[in-house]
Amino acid sequence: MRINQNTSIDCGNLVLVPYLERHVLKYHNWMKNPKLQELTCSEPLTLEEEFQMQKSWLEDEDKLTFIVIYRQGVENKKPQILHEILFHRNEDMIGDVNMFLTEGYEEVEDDPAAAEDENQNSSTYTQGELELMIAKPEYRGKGLGTTIAEAFLYYMEVSGLVASKGIAKYIIKVGSKNVPSLRLFKKIGFQQTKYVACFDQVEMEKPLH
Ligand SMILES: CC(C)(COP(=O)(O)OP(=O)(O)OC[C@H]1O[C@@H](n2cnc3c(N)ncnc32)[C@H](O)[C@@H]1OP(=O)(O)O)[C@@H](O)C(=O)NCCC(=O)NCCS
Repeated sequence: MRINQNTSIDCGNLVLVPYLERHVLKYHNWMKNPKLQELTCSEPLTLEEEFQMQKSWLEDEDKLTFIVIYRQGVENKKPQILHEILFHRNEDMIGDVNMFLTEGYEEVEDDPAAAEDENQNSSTYTQGELELMIAKPEYRGKGLGTTIAEAFLYYMEVSGLVASKGIAKYIIKVGSKNVPSLRLFKKIGFQQTKYVACFDQVEMEKPLH
C-alpha cells in the first residue's frame, strides 16, 4: 500500500519502516532458511521474484508491510506514528510484519427466502491476514513479537485503514506446533476457528465489530 510509504512506527527499541528496495537482499537471504520457511508456511522466491514482491507490497492496495528494526539500548515505549522513514542500518533488521486483505464468505443459515436464491446464500466481508516473523532467533521470546503485532494493529486503526477498507476481522494461519505464535495471538485476542489437517495448520481470528 502507498499509505505507509513514508511512515515509521516508533516503539523506542523497535521501529517499523516500509519494505524498501534496500531491504530486499537481506530479506531474501533470511528466507533461504528452511526452518523459517516452515515456521512461516512460505515458499522460497528467487531474488528477482523478491524484488517484484517488494514492489507489490509497496504499491498494491490489498497489502501492507513493515520491516522491523531493533535499536539496541533504547527503551520500549508506546507506538508513535511518524510521517518519515526513521534512519536505520540494515544490520539492525530483525524481521517483518504484514497484512494481506482478502474477501471472506459467510454462509447465511436458516433463511428460506435466501435459500431460493443461490447468490443470497452467502455474504462477503473483507478480512486481513496477519503475518509476523522475527527472523533472528536470538530476538525471539523476549516480548518483541507481541509489541510488533500490537503496534501494527494500532497502526491499522489510527491510519483509518480498518474503516476505509471495511475490515471485519483479522485472521492468522499458523502451524499447530508453533507455540510462541499460538500464545502470542491468543494473548492479543485471537481465537482458534479451524484446524486444517492437510497442512497441520491452525486458523485463528479476531473479529473487529
Ligand atoms: C512467533 C513469533 C513472532 C513470536 O514472537 P516472540 O517475540 O518470540 O514472542 P513473545 O516473546 O512476544 O511471546 C509470545 C508468547 O509466546 C510465549 N513464548 C515465546 N517463546 C516461547 C517458546 N519458545 N516456547 C513456549 N512459549 C513461548 C511467551 O511466553 C508469550 O506468551 P505469554 O505472554 O502467554 O507468556 C516469533 O517467535 C517468530 O518470529 N518466530 C518465527 C516465525 C514465525 O513462527 N512466525 C509466525 C507465523 S504467523
